[in-house]
Amino acid sequence: MPDECLPLKAIHHVELLVGNAKQAAYFYRHAFGFSQLAYAGPETGIREQASYVLYQGSIRLVVSTPLTPQDPMADHLRRHGDGVLDIAFLVDDVDACFAEAVRRGANVALAPYDRVDKFGRIRRAKIRAYGDTLHSLISTVDYNGPFLPGYQVRRRPSPGAGLERIDHIVGNVEDGRMNDWGTYYNKVLGFHQFMSFDDKDISTDFSALRSQVMAAPNDMIKFPINEPAPGKRKSQIQEYLDSNGGAGVQHVAVATRDIIHTVSVLRDNGVEFLMVPGSYYEKLWERVGDVHEDHQAIRDLGILVDRDEKGYLLQIFTKPLEDRPTLFFEIIQRQGSDAFGKGNFKALFEAIEREQAARGNL
Ligand code: FE2
Repeated sequence: MPDECLPLKAIHHVELLVGNAKQAAYFYRHAFGFSQLAYAGPETGIREQASYVLYQGSIRLVVSTPLTPQDPMADHLRRHGDGVLDIAFLVDDVDACFAEAVRRGANVALAPYDRVDKFGRIRRAKIRAYGDTLHSLISTVDYNGPFLPGYQVRRRPSPGAGLERIDHIVGNVEDGRMNDWGTYYNKVLGFHQFMSFDDKDISTDFSALRSQVMAAPNDMIKFPINEPAPGKRKSQIQEYLDSNGGAGVQHVAVATRDIIHTVSVLRDNGVEFLMVPGSYYEKLWERVGDVHEDHQAIRDLGILVDRDEKGYLLQIFTKPLEDRPTLFFEIIQRQGSDAFGKGNFKALFEAIEREQAARGNL
């Protein structure tokens, strides 16, 4: 399939729908080191929602909340709780991309429309992904404002935590739907399968999952898709689906060049991470070979390490960031490896299962 028909240039932003955007913005600023750039709400002429634009490195995170119970987003929030609403792509030509996506079978959420303010005009359309997740297609070539029309600059700087860019965004879908969604990303957006994991790769004594990693033509944007697999107990993916009211984004992985610095800052700020037992580190250095970062710091912070033929990676996962066990973040530092830490799956999923058991969901 010729990918030139649908050139997604980058992730423009990720929008979280939350119950209280004012407090969520404070949390992501103070816990994760995001700086605030702009705000949209009643004071800027937007009646239905309040939204805060946060950034760090090339990552732009928008946290939004509906302002009335009649707003359709209020029902979305009741069903799913706080989580990812929209993974928005930057494109050059919204109308051409939208028409091509529809021709290839995209589920339409909103046909192309304009938004205008004193800084110019943007064009935007929305297509559907798994669950109630959306992909906006946005063109800003005719726009010179701080973010998008309706937003005004409202800066709240933060010292940051070294987060640089979005590495991958993982979706959880219902049992038996992983291949359908892989095919959807392939057919509609021209993604290819980058790698896949079956339940033999990802299982513990109790539960299992399958995963298919879909990647954009330039491999810049990667979207792994998980589904639960049968096991002795409830899969962590099923716990997510039950809590989220269906499919949705499970985690956003953000890359740093210095994971020891980043995780130290995040921990000091109160971010909670999944911890693997000390025994994980007993055979680690033998398994992964030469790793430049300080071994004691890696162990003290609970960072996981894995190696493949191309190099190694360091990674760590936060606990869910909501009371519902749904969305969490991964922090990742890549040193040559472009994989996902397969060697850590077992230790990681056992750590998740201990949390599941504590919630009475295993
Ligand atoms: Fe990940």
